[in-house]
Parts: sequence; structure tokens; C-alpha cells
Amino acid sequence: MNEDIPQLPSYDESSLDAAFATLAEEVRGETTSRVDVEAFRLRWLGRKQGRLKLVSDAWLKNAPAEARKPLGMRFNQLKQQIEVALEQAIATPAKPTTKAGIDITLPGSVCVPGIEHPLLKTMNEVVAVFHDLGYSTALGPQVESDFYNFEALNFPPNHPARDTQDTLVVAGQQAKPSRDRLLMRTHTSPVQIRTMIAEAPPIRIVVPGKVHRNDAADATHSPVFHQVEGLCVDTNITFSDLKGTLDHAMKALFGSDVKTRFFPSFFPFTEPSADVQISCIFCGGKGCRKCKHSGWIELLGCGMVDPAVFAAVDEQRVAMGKPTAYDPAKVTGFAFGMGVERIAMILHGVSEIGQFYSGDMRFLEQFA
Ligand code: PHE
Repeated sequence: MNEDIPQLPSYDESSLDAAFATLAEEVRGETTSRVDVEAFRLRWLGRKQGRLKLVSDAWLKNAPAEARKPLGMRFNQLKQQIEVALEQAIATPAKPTTKAGIDITLPGSVCVPGIEHPLLKTMNEVVAVFHDLGYSTALGPQVESDFYNFEALNFPPNHPARDTQDTLVVAGQQAKPSRDRLLMRTHTSPVQIRTMIAEAPPIRIVVPGKVHRNDAADATHSPVFHQVEGLCVDTNITFSDLKGTLDHAMKALFGSDVKTRFFPSFFPFTEPSADVQISCIFCGGKGCRKCKHSGWIELLGCGMVDPAVFAAVDEQRVAMGKPTAYDPAKVTGFAFGMGVERIAMILHGVSEIGQFYSGDMRFLEQFA
């Protein structure tokens, strides 16, 4: 509320000085304590009820002609003081209106601890199963060369096997020889090659990581997804070792009741190759909607390392001045690769792969 403007006792200089000094003091007092800039502006400069307008109405309008000039000068000074004060108030952040203190009746602000993303959690669980078997983790780049992603893995240039992995390539690579051209890795298998070039057997590695394919997104596909790869190379590694290892891993992940079976399959870099199925964890193998009434769920690809892969690795080792170490007459090995999203979806009953990437807290909180 604006208090009334007092009547001027007289228009002589000292009365004017006193009247304006009171107003100036008022302004000063308000700007040292007032935090609400807009309220201050309205109170003083408001068009209809602002104090300046009231001063003008009460003092200027009825002033005798000879008092207009001294009155006007003082009026303008006051106006300027108000405007400067206003600018300063806008420039300096509002001070708290109350003295600093702690109100212990206010609720605290809750800091929710983060959780592992369900995909990372699943990936770590898979990796841990193999760590327990003596495997160590190896990683590789997501931007990979054609050589590591395809050629060394026995996918020759233009071979139709490449069509199974629709590839996102890096632009502007045509001038390079085909094996040096860059692409987004379509699987974690290139890390098999990188590891074998760097190290001689025995090798036991798991490779968790992100992979990319030019696939249309739908309920079960995403152009970016995750895999865990495995590679074991040593003397006397057989297909039974592969079967035993994966049977153990599936039981560790899905429960000891789970059965596995191996179906003939094809991958250019393994021979023989197999697809691994587990007995349906939803119906125990009786047949249900989830397993399309077959009693089995297909989960991963695997096989014995193809001698052509060992040959490509040794050729590269020699080119780098390293001794050969992968004579197929002396060493054998197996490899496997599985999709993390698929495992997470089965473990947690998630039917839309996109939920993992949505960032929707209502979804993610369920895994806390
Ligand atoms: N890299 C294969 C894929 O992504 C999976 C695989 C890995 C198969 C290792 C056999 C051995 O389809």
C-alpha cells in the first residue's frame, strides 16, 4: 500500500529540500532491505498509484509558477535516484529476507543413489561367470577396420557372408585399400584377432562391448546393441570343452535346471559352428508363447576357431616381426558370442528392447 503524500507546508527552498530529503531517505531505506525488485518499481514508478505520480499530482500540479523550476529539479533528482537504485537491484541478486539459519522442520532434499543400468548389470553378470573360470576381459575399438571386423575373420571382400551383418561404414574411405577402410564393428569378434596378434596362446578372454548394425529398430532389434564374446585357445581344446563351458555358463546365468543343446550352424570364422539353445526358462521346456511352443530358446553362436583365422593371425604376426604362434596342428580353440540385450530381456521378462535405451526412470528403477 502506498502511504499518502503529505501536503507541502510551503514552496520555499528549505521546505522543498526537507520534503524531498524524506522521500530520498525512504527510497534508500527500501533498496537496502527490499528484495522484490518488481514491487519496488511498482511502488515508486507505477503509472497510476506510484509514489512519483502521487508526488507529481500533489506537489507539482498545484505549484505556483515560480516554484515549478526548483520543484521540477528536485523531482527529477529523486526520479533518477529511484532509477539507479532499480538498476542496481536488478544487477545484484536478491538477498535472503531472513537471517541465515536452519529450519529443521523442512524436509531434506533426497539424493537418490544411481544404479547399474540393467544392460551393464547383465553384461557384468555374464563376464563374472567367465572370470570365475579364469578368463580375463579384453576390449577393442567400436570404430574398426574391415580387416579386423571381416577379412581376418574369414569374410573375404564381397563374400555373401557379409550380408548377414548389414554394416554401417565410415564415409570417405574409398581411397584406402579395402582392408583398411573403417566401419562400426558389427560384432565383438574382431577383438579375437587383436588379442591373438598381440599374445601367444594360451588365451582365455571375454569381450564385452557395443556393436552396430544397419538394422531397422523393432521390438527385438536395435542398430546399437551389446555382445559378450569369448575366446579360448590352447593345446588340446575340443568341442567337448566348448559344450561343457557353455553348459556351465548357461546354468550359472539362468539356473541349474536349464538344459542346453547345440545345433549345427555357420559362421565364417568357426568350423564346426553351432547355435546354442537353452530349455525355455518360462515353461521349463513344455512349450509356451515365449518359446514359440518349441520348449527351447536360441541364445548364442559358437564354434571351433577356423584354421583360416589362425593363418590370418600368424600372417599378421609375421608382418609385425613376431614369431608365429597359432599353428593349427598344435593349437585349437573355441569362440562364442552372445547378445546382452537378448539375455537381459529373457532374464527380466522385458518385451521391448527400446525400453533399455529410453532413459525412463519408471522402467530403470525396477532394477534398483
Ligand atoms: N560374432 C558372431 C555374431 O555376431 C557370433 C559368434 C561369435 C559366433 C563367436 C561364433 C563365435 O553373429
